Amino acid sequence: MPDSHKKHAGPSQVFLGPLGGERRAAVFTGGADIERAAFLRGEIERHNHAYYVLDAPTIPDAEYDRLFRELQEIEVAHPTLQTPDSPTQRVGGSPLAAFRQVAHAVPMLSLNNAFSSAEVAAFDRRCSEGLGTASVEYACEPKYDGLAVTLLYENGVLVQGATRGDGFTGEDVTHNLRTVRNIPLRLAETTKVSVPARIEVRGEVLMPRREFAALNERQRARGEKEFANPRNAAAGSLRQLDPKITAKRPLRFFAYGVAEAHAENNAVSPEPTFGGGAARHSEVMERLAVWGFPVAVERAVVQGAGGLLEYYERIGAARRALPYDIDGVVYKVDRLADQAKLGFVARAPRFAIAHKFPAEEALTTVEAIEVQVGRTGAITPVARLAPVFVGGVTVTNATLHNEDEVRRKDVRVGDTVIVRRAGDVIPEVAAVVPEKRPPHAGKFSMPKACPVCGSAVEKPEDEVIARCTGGLFCPAQRKQALLHFASRRAMDVEGLGDKLVDQLVDHGIIKTPADLYKLGILKLANLERMADKSAANLLAAIEKSRKSTLARFIFALGIRNVGEATAKDLARYFGGLDALMAADAEHLQQVPDVGPVVAASIVRFFAEPHNVEVVEQLRAAGIRWEEGTPNILANSPIAGKTFVLTGTLPTLTREAAKELIEARGGKVAGSVSKKTHYVVAGAEAGSKLDKAQELGVTILDEAKFMELLKL
Ligand code: IVH
Repeated sequence: MPDSHKKHAGPSQVFLGPLGGERRAAVFTGGADIERAAFLRGEIERHNHAYYVLDAPTIPDAEYDRLFRELQEIEVAHPTLQTPDSPTQRVGGSPLAAFRQVAHAVPMLSLNNAFSSAEVAAFDRRCSEGLGTASVEYACEPKYDGLAVTLLYENGVLVQGATRGDGFTGEDVTHNLRTVRNIPLRLAETTKVSVPARIEVRGEVLMPRREFAALNERQRARGEKEFANPRNAAAGSLRQLDPKITAKRPLRFFAYGVAEAHAENNAVSPEPTFGGGAARHSEVMERLAVWGFPVAVERAVVQGAGGLLEYYERIGAARRALPYDIDGVVYKVDRLADQAKLGFVARAPRFAIAHKFPAEEALTTVEAIEVQVGRTGAITPVARLAPVFVGGVTVTNATLHNEDEVRRKDVRVGDTVIVRRAGDVIPEVAAVVPEKRPPHAGKFSMPKACPVCGSAVEKPEDEVIARCTGGLFCPAQRKQALLHFASRRAMDVEGLGDKLVDQLVDHGIIKTPADLYKLGILKLANLERMADKSAANLLAAIEKSRKSTLARFIFALGIRNVGEATAKDLARYFGGLDALMAADAEHLQQVPDVGPVVAASIVRFFAEPHNVEVVEQLRAAGIRWEEGTPNILANSPIAGKTFVLTGTLPTLTREAAKELIEARGGKVAGSVSKKTHYVVAGAEAGSKLDKAQELGVTILDEAKFMELLKL
C-alpha cells in the first residue's frame, strides 16, 4: 500500500519496536476489536508523524503497510469502528457533489505587507509606541506561499477543515485535508500540555518544490495539464471533489497559529485562553509542535527592527535551500497580551506584518517571439515581453528554451503569461493564462533559415536544440565567438563588450578572433562612442591578452563541449597545442573526464581547415604561453589504441610487448575485432592473423612494432 506511506524505507531506516507483532486472526470479537483498532490508529499515526513531520522514519514501509491493512480489515468488518480520525481516511473517501460552505467563527484575516526596511522600521515604531515599550519582541517565521486553511479539532479529533474563502466564509475541504499526511487527525496527548476541548489551528497547505516537479512530470507523461507553480498545484489539489485524487498529491501543511478568541469582533481579551494558557505566540508554536503539528524550524524570536531585518536577510539567503516556496517572512508581536492590546485595523492585525521578498513571478504579455543565435549556432526562442518588474528587476525578455518547450507550454504572441525570475537565473515563461488569449493568436514555428545569416537551420531527430549551420560565416555566431574569446575566463580582453563587438563585426572589421590583434587606433577611432582614451585602453588590453596560458587559449577557441575544466585537463595532459591538435578521438579519451562526445567535438574542430587557419593566425599574432610538461602519454602515437598479440616474436616475450604498449597508453586485447588497431604477429601466428587480414587491420612484425613505438 505505497499510497499510505509514500517513500520507501531505505536500509538506514530503523525499525524501532516490535509494533503490532501479535497479529490476530481474521475473526474479531467486539471489545477486542475496538481496542485493537484504537491501538492501530495510534501506532499508524505515530509513524506518520515521525515520517512526515519529524522527517525521521521509525518503521519499514512493509511493516507500516501491514498495520494499515489490518486496520482497514477491521474497519471493513466493523464499519462502526471507523472513526473520523482513522488514518485509513487519508487515502480519500467518496467524492462530493459540491463543497459545503463554512462560516469562520473567527475570521481569517490577511496581513499588511512591507516591501522595504523603512516600512519594517515604521511597523516596529508603531508597535513600540502602541505598547509604550522601548523594544518589542517579535516571533518571526517564513511566509509560506501556499493557501490558508483552518482545522477544527474537537476533543483532540480533527472534525472540520476549510479554506479561507473570502475570510468570513470558506469551503469545507475536510475530506481532502484528511489526506494530507502531516496533518494530525488526532492531537497527540502528552502530560506536558493538555489538549483543549475545542481548538482551531490555522496554517498553510503547500506542495514542496521537488514533489511539484515530479507531479508535473507525471502530468506531462500522461498528457495531462501541467501546473504553473507549486501554489497553483496545491490549490488545484485541495479543491478536488474527489479526495482520492487529493490523496495522491504530495501536499504538506504548516501550522502558523491558532484562531484567537479575541480576534472575534475585534474584542480585546487581555489574557487569551487558547493553547492551554500560552502567553506568547512562540509558546503557542511550541504547543502546536507538541500536539503533532508541523511548524517551521526556521522560526525565531527577535528584538526590535534590527532583529527583524537580520531575520529577513537570513531567511532570504536560505530561501532557495528550503524544500518549499516562501514569498517573504512574517513578524508577529510575540506576547499575546500585547497582540490583543494592539488589535486590528480594518481586516488586518496591527501586531503582525508580512515582509515580502521581491516577487519572483509576475503577469505580462508576449509582444513577439523571436529567436536568438548562440555561439555554437543554437537557436533559442525568446519571448519579447511588455516590461514587468519581477525578482527585483525589470524584465523585457524571457527564454522559451527550445521549440518543444514553446509547443508544450503553447506560448503565442499576444498571450498573457506568468514570467518567473528566481534568484539569478534567466527569466522564463512559466505558463500561459489561457483565459486571456486573444482570438487568432498564431502558433509559433521555428524558422527554417537562420534569421541572421540565412543558412539552413538543422535539428537532428534525437536532439531538442535546432542550430544554424552557418558556423563563423554567421555574424551572430561570430559575435558570440568573439565575446567568448575575449571573456574573462578565456583571453580576458577587458573592455570588449557586446556593443563594440556588434560594431566590429557589422562593419566587417573583425571576421575571426585573430583580426582582434590586427586592430589599430585608426580603425577603432571611427567607431561610435569610442573616445581616444577607451580605444587606447582596449588596445592595451588586447596587447596584454597576448600573454596567456594554454588552458585559456583552448577554452577561448570555443570548441563545442569543451568548457573551462576540460580545457585545463587538456592543457595539463598535452602540455602543448600541437600534440592536442594531432590527437585522434581514442587518444583524447585518455585524458581524464574526456569521453567520446567531447573527443569527437575536438577532432571535428581541428579537422576544419578554417579553424586551423584561425589558430595559426592567432599564434602568428604572437599569442604565447608557457608550454607545460606534457603527460608522458601525450606524445605517444599509440595512446588509446588497441593491440592484439599473436605468435612468437623474435626477441620480445608477450609480457614485455604488453608492458611496452601499456606504458604508452595502449591496450592489449585477447581477440581481433573491428575495434582492433594493430595486430603484432610473430612466428606461427594462427587464426588471429587470418581474422586481422579479413578485417583489414594493420599487421606489424616486431621491427615495425618497435618503429611505431619509436624505440
Ligand atoms: S499569520 C491575521 N503566518 O499569509 C492573519 N500567515 O496575508 C494571520 N501566511 O492568508 C496570518 N505564512 O495564508 C501567517 N507564517 C505565516 C504565514 C501566513 C503564510 C499567509 C496566510 C494568510 C496570508 C496573510
